Amino acid sequence: MIGAKLGAGREADVYEWDDSTVVKLYRAGFLGHRAEALALAKLDGRGVAPKLVDAVECDGRTGLVLERLGGADMLSLLQRQPWRVLGLARALADAHLAVHEAPAPGDLPELRQVLASRIADAVLPSHLRDYALRVLDALPDGDRLCHGDYHPGNVLVAADRVAVIDWPNAARGVPEADHARTLLLLRWTDPQPGTPLVSRPLITAGRSMFAHRYARAYRDRSLRRLRQPASWLVVQAAARLAEGIEVEQNTLIGFLDRTHQRPER
Ligand SMILES: Nc1ncnc2c1ncn2[C@@H]1O[C@H](COP(=O)(O)OP(=O)(O)O)[C@@H](O)[C@H]1O
Ligand SMILES: [Mg+2]
Repeated sequence: MIGAKLGAGREADVYEWDDSTVVKLYRAGFLGHRAEALALAKLDGRGVAPKLVDAVECDGRTGLVLERLGGADMLSLLQRQPWRVLGLARALADAHLAVHEAPAPGDLPELRQVLASRIADAVLPSHLRDYALRVLDALPDGDRLCHGDYHPGNVLVAADRVAVIDWPNAARGVPEADHARTLLLLRWTDPQPGTPLVSRPLITAGRSMFAHRYARAYRDRSLRRLRQPASWLVVQAAARLAEGIEVEQNTLIGFLDRTHQRPER
């Protein structure tokens, strides 16, 4: 019944299922399908995510059967068609704003709590951990649907539709929190390992422009003023350190250090 493999990640593999669907098969022991199913059910009818068609069991693994989307993911489009950078940055912002219009299902975890436990686990000097937790303490809970890992690799772009996939980190929170993680990923995470060295600076330049355009489009097209975006960036940078990505550590700790030393205004 299962067809060709379309993708493989840490938590799950994605396969063709029938002509109009794919199945995302979670590895045994990974429970991200719960949050993914809740988020997709909530987004049903909004057009911004694939429809959740069914949940199945396959060899002891949970599979989510999803509407099959056409097009390519935005990350590979940016690599193949770099001249589309401005339009794609705007599309990334628009789809993110559309997600944040949805109220979060009550059963999703609170994003502030998720972030607090990541910061507790992160490898960072204790004064910076305390600083990040203090900043988080002063930030609000929210009731919006947050994706939790929103970046161009998780956005599929077809001629007539932009759709957001990969929801195991979905949570309840304020949009600014989710937006800050995207900015952090766009600005500071390293180019893919294996990228030839000469093209790295180009990628970095392209990235910073893409990040800037996404940030501007998100801010300008949001119906309300963004609250405390800089504080959310501090919290997300500290939480990211829990993912243990060695090449990012100096950049993230350097950012936290500079922000920590800046006098309060
Ligand atoms: N609904 C879908 N329709 C078509 N392709 C999909 C769909 N969902 C996922 N894919 C494919 O599978 C890949 C991985 O899916 P994703 O949900 O991002 O999981 P992960 O990043 O954990 O591997 C995507 O990049 C895409 O190529
Ligand atoms: Mg993904």
